[in-house]
Amino acid sequence: MNSSLITTDVERAAEALRAGGLVAVPTETVYGLAADATDAVALRRIFIAKGRPPDHPLIVHVDSAERLDAWAARVPASAQLLIAAAWPGPLTVILPRGPRVLDEVTGGRDTVGLRMPAHPMAAALLEQSGLAFAAPSANRFGSVSPTTAQHVLDELGDHLDPRIDVILDGGACPIGVESTIVDCTDDPPQVLRAGAVTVEDIDRLLGVATAPPSGPSRASGMLASHYAPRCEVRLVDDADDAFALRAGTPRSEVLDLTDDLVRYAHDLYARLRDADARGVGTVIAVLPPPVGLGHAIRDRLTKAAAPRR
Ligand code: TXA
Ligand code: MG
Repeated sequence: MNSSLITTDVERAAEALRAGGLVAVPTETVYGLAADATDAVALRRIFIAKGRPPDHPLIVHVDSAERLDAWAARVPASAQLLIAAAWPGPLTVILPRGPRVLDEVTGGRDTVGLRMPAHPMAAALLEQSGLAFAAPSANRFGSVSPTTAQHVLDELGDHLDPRIDVILDGGACPIGVESTIVDCTDDPPQVLRAGAVTVEDIDRLLGVATAPPSGPSRASGMLASHYAPRCEVRLVDDADDAFALRAGTPRSEVLDLTDDLVRYAHDLYARLRDADARGVGTVIAVLPPPVGLGHAIRDRLTKAAAPRR
């Protein structure tokens, strides 16, 4: 595996992006695998590197809330409110697609996902490249998202080309779970994926109760089995149940950070990866209560525990 991919040199990464290469970039949520959002050839390489089906749309990362008209046909009032409150930050809005947005980005849909990341390295990459980049999480399709540069190297090292691609190392991602996704093309808007901008935050900002996701699965993170480690994941409601189950389950261990949900989100994917690396058979995870960041953690744990494809 080629560790010469890893760098902290943002200018080198910006050049790689401009030259049509792929750049794994730290964001405040998880590491993304970025390509110039206007370069169809580079975008197609993202899908190959990830082993991701080509009809799964990508989030476009932009450097400001201005000039969204380059990407979106219109910005509904709900989106304007959310963007004003939460950008830069872990919030993706789904908007009607602008006419010049490539099918490689939208998976052929009539909508586009947009977000302005807060991580200083992602912001610097946007600024120094002068580009908007499309980026899914920098993992192989179906596995848990990477939250360190080493995770990206472990996942994608064999699928990136060190002559043209780069992994930017910005340390561990501060939040640890993917952005909240709100579909603002619906009224009321729908929260497609829970994240660090909580459902409670969104409902308060919009002054309405957002709808839970309905209709056909629109976000790949909405597939039942996603974010899955190799080990089995079993879910319990409290620590007593966890330790009782562990007693009867060989090669199992308990994951319970319910006393600190910020830390639970931050450590979740690294803990699942680490369990795999140590050959743990079953992780018995204690579900946090369904409030605030607890929604996002429960969602990722539930998907990690779902029957595998
Ligand atoms: O925090 C994040 O959002 C990270 C960082 C890198 O920004 N990115 C991320 O990307 O999680 P990805 O591709 O792993 O997940 C994005 C989700 C997918 O489930 C995709 O289906 C959904 O967003 N999505 C993107 N565009 C969409 C659209 N137009 N309509 C519905 N869902 C969309
Ligand atoms: Mg992903």
